[in-house]
Amino acid sequence: MSRKETEGVCFEKREQVDAILAEYEGKKGTLIPILQEVQNLYNYLPREALEYVAERTGVPIAEIYGVVTFYSLFHLDPRGRNIIRACQGTACHVRGGKSVLQALEKELGIKAGQTTKDLRFTLETVACIGACGLAPVMQINQDTHGRLTPEKIKTILAGYR
Ligand code: FES
Repeated sequence: MSRKETEGVCFEKREQVDAILAEYEGKKGTLIPILQEVQNLYNYLPREALEYVAERTGVPIAEIYGVVTFYSLFHLDPRGRNIIRACQGTACHVRGGKSVLQALEKELGIKAGQTTKDLRFTLETVACIGACGLAPVMQINQDTHGRLTPEKIKTILAGYR
């Protein structure tokens, strides 16, 4: 589909997607940076935006999905404003990482790998975040919280909107 044919296509933040596409127009090997920027825009990759990128760049949609599902940095489902990474590595595990994760799941009402309905939090697990001395540890966005206990979880989460 040409640019003329996509002119009537309407979805949230389309103008910003257009700006991203314009930035890379005529350059080669730009699919991944385009997808990264589109993801930064929405916090994930909505289907409409991917279809639009396919139409505008001429890259088949199947190829785009192939790239998106290959790289773990891309996400096809909405993500929370705050990303929690609860460490389940060995050092954290032996110091109660599992009970911290269970407290997070209980407090948020979701399981690891899921996002709250209000899109406030996404809960993930990681193998080690390199702060084993503070075990058990979790990261919320760029913040590291260490020496956790299940009792501390509610108060910590309250600091993130
Ligand atoms: S095992 Fe958790 S920070 Fe290393």
